[in-house]
Amino acid sequence: MTKASAVRVFVPSDTTARSLGADGVAAAIAREAGTRGLPLTVVRNGSRGLYWLEPMIEVEVGGKRLAYGPIEAKDVPGLFDKEFLAGGKHAKALGVTDELPYLSAQSRLTMARVGLVDPLSLEDYRAHGGYRGLANALKLSGADIVKAVTDSGLRGRGGAAFPTGIKWNTVLNAEARQKYVVCNADEGDSGTFADRMIMESDPFVLIEGMTIAGLAVGATQGYIYVRSEYPQAIRTLRAAIEAARQAGFLGASVAGSGKAFELEVREAAGAYICGEETSLLESLEGKRGMVRFRPPLPAIKGLFGQPTIVNNVISLASVPIVLDQGAEHYKNFGTGRSRGTLTIQLAGNIKQGGLVEVAFGKTLRELLYDFGGGSATGRPIRAVQAGGPLGAYVHPSQFDTPLDYEAFAKIGAMIGHGGLVVFDDTVDMGEQARFAMEFCAIESCGKCTPCRIGAVRGVEVIDRIRSGQESDANLALLRELCGTMIDGSLCALGGMAPFPVMSVLNHFPEDLRPRQ
Ligand SMILES: Cc1cc2nc3c(=O)[nH]c(=O)nc-3n(C[C@H](O)[C@H](O)[C@H](O)COP(=O)(O)O)c2cc1C
Ligand code: SF4
Repeated sequence: MTKASAVRVFVPSDTTARSLGADGVAAAIAREAGTRGLPLTVVRNGSRGLYWLEPMIEVEVGGKRLAYGPIEAKDVPGLFDKEFLAGGKHAKALGVTDELPYLSAQSRLTMARVGLVDPLSLEDYRAHGGYRGLANALKLSGADIVKAVTDSGLRGRGGAAFPTGIKWNTVLNAEARQKYVVCNADEGDSGTFADRMIMESDPFVLIEGMTIAGLAVGATQGYIYVRSEYPQAIRTLRAAIEAARQAGFLGASVAGSGKAFELEVREAAGAYICGEETSLLESLEGKRGMVRFRPPLPAIKGLFGQPTIVNNVISLASVPIVLDQGAEHYKNFGTGRSRGTLTIQLAGNIKQGGLVEVAFGKTLRELLYDFGGGSATGRPIRAVQAGGPLGAYVHPSQFDTPLDYEAFAKIGAMIGHGGLVVFDDTVDMGEQARFAMEFCAIESCGKCTPCRIGAVRGVEVIDRIRSGQESDANLALLRELCGTMIDGSLCALGGMAPFPVMSVLNHFPEDLRPRQ
């Protein structure tokens, strides 16, 4: 092989890749290159989101990136022997990264740079289209920025799918000396990691999105409330914020515009309910995370009683592309009232788990089988919990439902934050129903009775059903209890915990018979 001249080798630094040994692989590559006297640069990029192949390394050859994975440190000498720096054949060679079907079949808008760039290189970010959205936003009035977001059809990706532009408009029109932008990065839903991927792999896109939000509504201070279990995301964000500040993209005069925007990271309190926006605001104010009564909405009276945008990471990270490419471009993806793309996270018992960004409209079946490759165990998929721990269990007869907020609502399910947790036919759905109530009992903030007491009673009733005590009467009682929790709970924790239970009652009733 001819001597390589500073070939770039990419080794993901994302938490998942690191948990699978990426740091050891990076060190082994640097060591081996040193021993062999081969100049190379190891770039710690984010993950491409093909988690079953992590650590998936890439090498840049002739302007293309070639992937190898999953790589262990012990594979590294063999990779050098096979001249992987020149794209040599190796048992773990996967081909051109962009041509891998899992990636080429996606429409990456929000995640366009994830896995491509060095997360902390502003230069890399800008070379890949970063800060173009902000540049356009700076030429517009606040109202015009809000209009662009409204016209794009973007709806909140945190769970409730509320139109982002309408929320921003309320904050824009609220009179106040101080307004805030708060990013909800508590990411508590089971099987979800899209927020983390953005924060660890492309933090500047979130910073840019929040800056545009601040300019749009006249907010000069933002906070990112990050799940405490994400230490790397917290570190990466803090470093990226500092880099953006040093480069003049944050501070008293954003990009020399004379308009101020500052940003800080706050570590979350470690409770599921702290992801609920009013609870989050209480927690940000230094109090215990308890749900607030509504009205007033946070958009009117939010953080410290001031008008506040609260948006999910993915919602905010989708704003730069809207301002860069235009509302029409974003809106052209999707179906019905579900516009743009959705970051689906395939998790649980799935062969090819990872991040899939596609336009709304793809069916669950396509995600589970075309992308996911079926269950990891090879057994039939029996159920998928969509939308987190408060989401329904979707039955295989419903797998042709398109990803579309309204289509999911029609079958009593929700897309939520886009997490899909897959179960094969060995799952005990009675146990899953019990878990939904138990989860609610443990995570309840305790403010209202239907949730605080109802969830505990729910566990007891399910236990009675499963042990054969007056099954019919207790099944009727369970349905009644679900109705009471739905109608009487103050927030969606108690109000939606019955949904997974009812999906088991309706679609998997055989599992609520007494256990043998
Ligand atoms: C119990 C509960 C937990 C929630 N957890 C999260 C969360 O972890 N992340 C998130 O973005 N939204 C979460 N939400 C939704 C938020 O209350 C809120 O709707 C969202 O942050 C608004 O942002 P969006 O419009 O961009 O989706 C949760 C809601 C409830 C009821
Ligand atoms: S539903 Fe549960 S979590 Fe929500 S306010 Fe009531 S007690 Fe708190």
